[in-house]
Amino acid sequence: MERISDIGATPYEPAPRGESLRKLRNGGRSSGLESLKFALSIVLDCLTFVVLVIPILVRYAVGLFVSPQKKKIAGQLALVTGGANGLGREICLQLAKEGCHIAVNDLDATNGAKTVDDLKKMGVKAKFFKADISNYDAVQGLRKEIESSLGPVDILVNNAGVLPLMSLREGKPEDIQKVLEINLLSHFWTIRTFIDGMIERRMGHIVAVASVASYLPQGRMISYVASKYGLRGMMEAFSDELYYEGLSDQIKTTITFPFFMPTRKELIDMLCKLKIIARVPIFAPEKMARRTVNGILCNSRQVFLPKIFGFGLKEYEFIPNDVKRLGRKLVFQSDIPRLMPLPSQFNMG
Ligand SMILES: NC(=O)c1ccc[n+]([C@@H]2O[C@H](COP(=O)([O-])OP(=O)(O)OC[C@H]3O[C@@H](n4cnc5c(N)ncnc54)[C@H](O)[C@@H]3O)[C@@H](O)[C@H]2O)c1
Repeated sequence: MERISDIGATPYEPAPRGESLRKLRNGGRSSGLESLKFALSIVLDCLTFVVLVIPILVRYAVGLFVSPQKKKIAGQLALVTGGANGLGREICLQLAKEGCHIAVNDLDATNGAKTVDDLKKMGVKAKFFKADISNYDAVQGLRKEIESSLGPVDILVNNAGVLPLMSLREGKPEDIQKVLEINLLSHFWTIRTFIDGMIERRMGHIVAVASVASYLPQGRMISYVASKYGLRGMMEAFSDELYYEGLSDQIKTTITFPFFMPTRKELIDMLCKLKIIARVPIFAPEKMARRTVNGILCNSRQVFLPKIFGFGLKEYEFIPNDVKRLGRKLVFQSDIPRLMPLPSQFNMG
């Protein structure tokens, strides 16, 4: 394919269709016998699949009842983005409990220093690194700084994120871009930056903090939903690619889907404004952090809190929209109001 930046520079070439496409798909099979052989090979592939899938299903069924053996991460270095506050800070503390050394990244240096002090009191090495993870060059600089003072990163926890109740027509175009840069693109930058070291050492674990919004396409927060849906797709595809490259036994991935947590004040203010503070479940960030670290120890691909959400959220997509909206109205008692002015309303008295 042409370089992405060159798109449109050369005339578009349409794909073959009709007879030429049929010939390509036929793979040069000219006789009936060759076509029959081809059909039989597909039947054989299906039978092979059925035979090979049985031990995999048995392993999964056993896994439902037997807890996996936990791996040891003591002495490993974890980088936690957005580690100064909220869920990130709790993840730092839980990782330190397991004996991990911690590189705390954030833009908030004041609370970053407090987190580092608390981590050091737990007897592990810890250092604060100020860097904007939505900027690729800043992430490259972050790697150099961490490696020269603490060593290579074994566990990367991509937690930093913003939670604006901002939709498509609200805010400025740069605001929407920033949400996607922080909540989605930053994961590309950090993984690209730290994966080579993990591949060299043939060990590593990459965690992405997504949200239940990765499954709930909620109006009034389109940019956030898009970033978290994108993150889910990205992490699933990335995990698949590690498998293709023969690295899935050495480098593990975990994606977490938290529900509401009382982290920053604006979030709780927003739930109050929406008048749903008493009507939605709210989970302690300490509990989500514990589940996240447990997910690392057990090499879990996905982490939900509570576990039952894992089933409910996946089935949600099959529910007809009218039923979903009726259910939401019962929970919220109204439609979600617009909390940010439209651009046309910015300068109004
Ligand atoms: N709080 C919730 O209810 C909730 C629910 C679902 C998912 N989440 C997700 O959990 C993660 C953590 O959320 P939280 O509630 O702890 O948020 P928070 O706002 O309390 O903390 C996020 C931290 O990330 C830092 N940060 C933001 N942008 C950054 C950047 N570009 N570079 C470096 N640091 C940056 C902030 O300074 C802050 O310290 C987010 O990804 C969020 O989307 C939160």
